[in-house]
Amino acid sequence: MKRHVAALALGLCGLMIAGIGLSAQGAKKKTIWEGVYTPAQAARGEAAYKKSCTLCHRDDLRGNNDGGPPLRGLEFTSRWTNVSMKDMVGAISDIMPNEKPGSLSRQTYVDIVAFLFKGNGIPAGTTELPIKDAELEQIVFTKK
Ligand code: HEC
Repeated sequence: MKRHVAALALGLCGLMIAGIGLSAQGAKKKTIWEGVYTPAQAARGEAAYKKSCTLCHRDDLRGNNDGGPPLRGLEFTSRWTNVSMKDMVGAISDIMPNEKPGSLSRQTYVDIVAFLFKGNGIPAGTTELPIKDAELEQIVFTKK
């Protein structure tokens, strides 16, 4: 009988821990629509973008005929829908800038993403887009 009580208590503990884990996870994940970058960060990103990306994607993110696709509008949002910021920042630093992939700092890639958000009408907030993978993983690109 005692054993059963102990087993039951253990089982309940397990359930509670699982419950806490789930609610913590639920609370941590957020979308890009919740103010995930700051205006100052987007301004830094814009300066970096103008140095390294404008040539092929244009100042206004519309892209051009030399193969740089638009980085705004439906084409852009469809490409990244349901992708975490970890994967988005990772993918961009893996392939861009075209002629020198991975050549910018992590901070610069994240700042450029903030600028791309601004250009796509995604609202700024009061905290910067972080640079750590563990934190970026909690922010997901969704369509409005
Ligand atoms: C020399 C031209 C060139 C430069 C400079 C360049 N890109 Fe690109 N970019 C391209 C081309 C071409 C593609 C499409 C082919 C590909 O995916 O490799 C592309 C694709 C992309 C994509 C993927 C778009 C999609 O819908 O899949 C993103 C995002 C991007 N570039 C961002 C950037 C950023 C940010 C910079 C600056 C750090 C940059 N690019 C600099 C030419 C360029």
